[in-house]
Amino acid sequence: MTASLKFRQLEQAADEKSRIALAAARSAARAWSTGISQRSRRDRAAAFARAALEAYVAATVPNLQLTAFQNLAPCRLDRDGLALAERIGRSVAPLPMVAALHHLTSLYPALLSQEQRSALGAFYTPPCLSARLLDLATEGGFDWATGRLLDPAAGAGAFLVQAALRLRSSLRDGEPAFVLAQVGVRLSGLELDENAARLAQASLEIALADVVLASGRPVPPVVQICDTLEEAPSPSFDLVVGNPPYGRVTLTIEQRARFSRSLYGHANLYGVFTDLALRWTKPGGLIAFLTPTSFLAGQYYAALRRLLVDEAPPVALDFVHARKGVFEDVLQETMLTVYRKGRAAGRARVHYLHIATDCEARVAANGTVGMPRDARGPWLAPRSPEHSALIAHAEGLSSRLRDWGYSVSTGPLVWNRFKSQLSDSAAGRAVHPLIWAESVTSEGRFIFRALKKHHTPYFRVEPGDEWLLIKEPCVLVQRTTAKEQARRLIAAELPASFVQSHAGVVIENHLNMIRPKGIAKVTPAVVAAVLNSQAVDQLFRCMNGSVAVSAFELEALPLPEADALEHLSLLLAEGAERVVIEAECNRLYGWMS
Ligand SMILES: C[S@@+](CC[C@H](N)C(=O)[O-])C[C@H]1O[C@@H](n2cnc3c(N)ncnc32)[C@H](O)[C@@H]1O
Repeated sequence: MTASLKFRQLEQAADEKSRIALAAARSAARAWSTGISQRSRRDRAAAFARAALEAYVAATVPNLQLTAFQNLAPCRLDRDGLALAERIGRSVAPLPMVAALHHLTSLYPALLSQEQRSALGAFYTPPCLSARLLDLATEGGFDWATGRLLDPAAGAGAFLVQAALRLRSSLRDGEPAFVLAQVGVRLSGLELDENAARLAQASLEIALADVVLASGRPVPPVVQICDTLEEAPSPSFDLVVGNPPYGRVTLTIEQRARFSRSLYGHANLYGVFTDLALRWTKPGGLIAFLTPTSFLAGQYYAALRRLLVDEAPPVALDFVHARKGVFEDVLQETMLTVYRKGRAAGRARVHYLHIATDCEARVAANGTVGMPRDARGPWLAPRSPEHSALIAHAEGLSSRLRDWGYSVSTGPLVWNRFKSQLSDSAAGRAVHPLIWAESVTSEGRFIFRALKKHHTPYFRVEPGDEWLLIKEPCVLVQRTTAKEQARRLIAAELPASFVQSHAGVVIENHLNMIRPKGIAKVTPAVVAAVLNSQAVDQLFRCMNGSVAVSAFELEALPLPEADALEHLSLLLAEGAERVVIEAECNRLYGWMS
């Protein structure tokens, strides 16, 4: 079932021609900004966005006096920059207001240097995504007439502006002064970057211009300039919403201690903000975040997943599929998730959100996601409606590779640390085959070969390096595959005869090794066949949102009981054709391809 979002109508207002003109003006603004020194760039980028906003106000609500920029020196822009900013400000005047504000405020991060932008994680949310996330929070029970809301990484107010408009609509009969007072009491934002905070405040003034003009009062300050990581949270909000910054971050010793409950290894800012959101939310309240999908699987997010399952399990989840170019400069796969604090884990609704433009999205229902038995485990979420039956079946499978008698680790050789031991020839003492990722073919076969630059087929094991040598047969699985590839799981059995004839091999780090621990219950050929099946490949796609195929995820894959694999073993022993093997694996997973 599909539904259109309200924002489709916004798109119709901006005809193709004016969108092209706007995109061209934006490119011109970016070109203009590259001529500015790094030291002045933040100020100029902020001044540019401010000039554009002021031109927009002059064209749309000329009576409004913006107070957000009071006490600041006038914009320091050269003539060309000012003219361009004002032209952009005027040209978005025909657009619906939230779309216009997004175009104008997002000029600021777009004109920063790459390093400045990445350091802040400043990527502003297009209106269709903020609207959808607020819709999900409304469906989750957030009451606009009474609820308190916090955006802990407010940026230029993508969420606060739409929240203010919803709050105002919920108080339809309220006096303008009362509406403004309610905005001051019930909406809050935190933001590290004072330029962004000012743009957010200005955007709120524009969005609420009618009540500001009717009451003769300014919009109360909504955004506090601060480092959210250093604020002392109190559970006082009914909804914590936003698009937190993301990227690896080095925390201080005190911060690591404070967030230890949700950390494993490297910290990512969005994980830390998710942990913080839980602390700001009232019991029974909601957290609604736009984040990368990487937290759904992988060991780095295992502690965060456990925290969420225990304290605030998800109630709704949208995978975002955006047409190329819609998210300026954002490369990662993203999703919207709504969690309820203090709710017992149940099943959360899953949707697919197709974004065609800044303002147009289609929603398709995909099914539901349940929480794993091991709270640290990956979440199996359907990426398309057909996955629901597969996941339902997989949720009933309690075996894992460990139960079959296998463990997973990564190939031990990081080749560039051992360059002098790489060898083109098998001649010499202690020289063994070196197995690179290209030895595992996309059809799931092992071919001993070294095809790429710097890859050599042999490796000399020096005294002390014996730990690099693998002496038993195992299953090799490629560690990096993209969702665009025909298969995400690419596995091959490393034949026992090959290992024995060379008295051991060395396996490079771009491969996972699935190795028997003692006497395994199934053969490596069975392990490889199951991993190479379409059913398990689809299951893996439901679990993994990154390009990594990690040992942690392989170990978490739901598998049939070893006893159920007798027929598959027979088929493999008889040399049955691929289609026959596939059909048997499909049967084991109840999967209709
Ligand atoms: C991904 S942007 C989102 C902004 C806005 N909420 C939106 O959706 O358009 C993240 C914002 O977090 C801010 N930020 C980064 N680190 C922060 C911190 N430690 N404390 C507060 N804000 C921070 C950045 O300046 C940026 O404006």
